[in-house]
Amino acid sequence: MRTAPKSIIRTAVFPVAGRGTRFLPATKASPKEMLPVVDKPLIQYAVEEALAAGATRLVFITGASKRAIEDHFDSDQELEQFLERQGKSSLLNQIRSVLPSYASCIYIRQPAPLGLGHAVLCAQPAVGSEPFFVHLADDLIRSDVACLKQMADVYEAKRASVLGVQVVPRADTDKYGIVAVEADQSATTRVRSIVEKPKPSAAPSTLAVVGRYVLTPSIFEHLEKLGHGAGGEVQLTDGIAALMREEAVYAYRFAGTRYDCGSKLGYLQATVEFALGHPVLGKDFRHYLRDLQLQMKPAPSRRRANGGEAKRSAARQLPG
Ligand code: UTP
Repeated sequence: MRTAPKSIIRTAVFPVAGRGTRFLPATKASPKEMLPVVDKPLIQYAVEEALAAGATRLVFITGASKRAIEDHFDSDQELEQFLERQGKSSLLNQIRSVLPSYASCIYIRQPAPLGLGHAVLCAQPAVGSEPFFVHLADDLIRSDVACLKQMADVYEAKRASVLGVQVVPRADTDKYGIVAVEADQSATTRVRSIVEKPKPSAAPSTLAVVGRYVLTPSIFEHLEKLGHGAGGEVQLTDGIAALMREEAVYAYRFAGTRYDCGSKLGYLQATVEFALGHPVLGKDFRHYLRDLQLQMKPAPSRRRANGGEAKRSAARQLPG
C-alpha cells in the first residue's frame, strides 16, 4: 500500500473552473485540464505532483462541463473488470493507481468563472486554517524534485506564503503576475511588490508568477474583501498584494522546466518533450522526429537542381 510522504501541507487546491477559451473548440464540452500530454491528462500530472509533495486532500474547484475530472479520479468497476477479463494487468494497474487510497478528493463548484482569486476563495471551507498548495494544471513542470515539494521545503524554512516564479521575456509580462523582489539572484527571496499583467514598459521586473503557490490561510480574508480587478475578475494577485501588507511573501525560483499548456504552442512543446522522455514511446518517437527533420531538409543535390522547388515539394509530403 502506498503511503503519503511527510508534509505539514496537507491540502492542494486545483482551480479547474476556467473557460479555457484559448483551446476552443477542444474545450467547449470538455475541460482544458483533461487534455492529454502523451497518455495522461494534465490534471493527473498535477495531482501526482501534489501527492509527491505530501498532499493528501485534493480540492478541485470545478465549473460547467468539468464532470470528466470527477470521473477520471473515481474508480471504474466496469472498466477494471473488462481489463481483468482481457488479462491486461499493466493497464489495470495504471488505472487503479491513478489515485492512492490515502488521498481524498473534494469537489467544490465555482458558480461562475469570476477569476482565479474567486476560485481560490471557494476552497476556504475545505482548506480551513492551514497552509495549502494552489496548483494550476495548465502549467506543467518537469523536474527531478516535484515543484510543489521544493516549495513545501521553502515553506517549512520560512513559514510564509511562497510563489513559484520564473524569468519570462519582457514582451510577455502582460500575461503574468509580475513580482519585484529583494534579491534578484537568489532562489528564494522576499517579494516587495506584485502586479497583475503589467505592460512590458511598466513591469517592475521580468520575474513571473507561474501556477504554483503555497498560501497561508490569511489569504482568504483578503480575497473576501476584494472587488473585481484586471479583466473584471477577482485576481489572486490582488489578494496576495493585500496579504503582503501583513505577512512576508516569498518568491521561489523552482528547478525545472515549465510548459505553458494553456497555450497551443506550449502544449505542443510539452507533448513533444514528454513523448521523447516516455519510457515506451521515446525511442520510436525520436526516430520519427529525425525522419521528419530529414524530410523537411531538401537533399543538397536536389536543392542545387531545383532551387526552392525541392524544398516546397518536400514540405508537401509532411503530415497536415
Ligand atoms: P486561465 O487564466 O488560464 O484561464 O486560468 P482559463 O479560463 O482557464 O483559460 P483561457 O485563458 O480562457 O484560455 C488559470 C487557471 O485558473 C482556473 C483555470 O481553470 C486555470 O486552471 N480558473 C480561472 C478558475 O478555476 N476559475 C476562474 O474563474 C478562472
